[in-house]
Amino acid sequence: MNVLQNANRYLVNVYKRFPLDVERGEGVYLVDKNGHKYLDFLAGIAVNALGYQHPRIQKAILAQLNRNLHLSNYFIQDVQVELARRLVELTGYRRVFFTNSGTEAIEGLLKAAKKWGTHHQKSEIIALQGCFHGRTLGALSITMQEKYQKSFRPLLPGCRMIPANDTAALKQAVNENTLAVFYEGIMGEGGVRPLDVGFLKELYQLRERFDFLVFADEIQTGVGRTGYFYYFQKDGFRPDGFATAKGLGGGLPLGAFVLDEKLAEIFAPGEHGTTYGGNPLACASGLATVNEVAQQSFLNHVAQVGRYFKEQLGVFAGKYPEHIVAVRGEGLMVGLEVKERARDLMDAAFENGLLFNIAGGNTLRFVPPLIIEKTHVDEAIEKLQLTFQKAFG
Ligand SMILES: Cc1ncc(COP(=O)(O)O)c(C=O)c1O
Repeated sequence: MNVLQNANRYLVNVYKRFPLDVERGEGVYLVDKNGHKYLDFLAGIAVNALGYQHPRIQKAILAQLNRNLHLSNYFIQDVQVELARRLVELTGYRRVFFTNSGTEAIEGLLKAAKKWGTHHQKSEIIALQGCFHGRTLGALSITMQEKYQKSFRPLLPGCRMIPANDTAALKQAVNENTLAVFYEGIMGEGGVRPLDVGFLKELYQLRERFDFLVFADEIQTGVGRTGYFYYFQKDGFRPDGFATAKGLGGGLPLGAFVLDEKLAEIFAPGEHGTTYGGNPLACASGLATVNEVAQQSFLNHVAQVGRYFKEQLGVFAGKYPEHIVAVRGEGLMVGLEVKERARDLMDAAFENGLLFNIAGGNTLRFVPPLIIEKTHVDEAIEKLQLTFQKAFG
């Protein structure tokens, strides 16, 4: 039996895998066991911000490897503290709690909200239709997509869905009992759909009036992905807390929830915790990643290459007006919505050596390593051209 058959036989069957038996990553490419190279515009689903085998990440991990692999959170871990300090310095927030994943970061925010709500007699949590916040039961309760929730009810009570970008619905939904509103500045899994600034302005104004909590899910948009270190920084919004993961660990499992003034002291000792969260190896890799990505020149690079990518996709879309609906996104989080056959296109692109995945049903989602250059964009567009020619003639 080959490894693909073994994967299907031994692993819980929840992923539609590419038939790609990976040997290694090299920069912005994956290489299979036969030496075929794939241009990776999926990057571990927006994780490998600095691509594969980045020397600074390797150096940081090796240095940590020679000290310790894991320590209990009962001990002081200097790399963990330093990464927290950097995140606080970069955002002006107050405190950081490290997790192993995005969904755990959301769970932490939910717990912080719940505790705050008991002191303020508020209980309702609002999230946006089409959003994605994770798969554990709390996060799933605010992941407002039927396909993810339907087999797992009852979920957390008091979670309510409103349409994204619908200011009237938002105004109608919030009241004195509103505890928290969660949002992704750009809905990733929902199809790379940015929220309107007007909608967000209204949300923050309503927070002033009703005193609820606002949480930004920066798990996909964060750590430089959009050309801002965190996307909420673009328009100067200030959520009460945010969740970050994916790119944060530079490829190792690491997430965090980060709290502002209002919630910084919400947890008493023992009320929350984790065995692995903030693992020193992950934090060492995270610190190397953050120190690279947070440089203004790096963020400018993401913005510039991202703009070029969107421009080129715009030109490309002009050639296929009957098949392409829209180009969306910011920085290197870009979506190309097609009318139909998104999955066929993904499979055909894979055959042509280009990797991406599908979000929101019919959007080709591109979240490449942030270190790509314009030449990689040109290569991706060429491969897309080939793919569309084969599919649509
Ligand atoms: C916006 C957003 N929130 C939460 C999550 C969940 O993160 P994780 O898969 O690390 O639990 C994801 C993952 O795709 C995400 O994109």
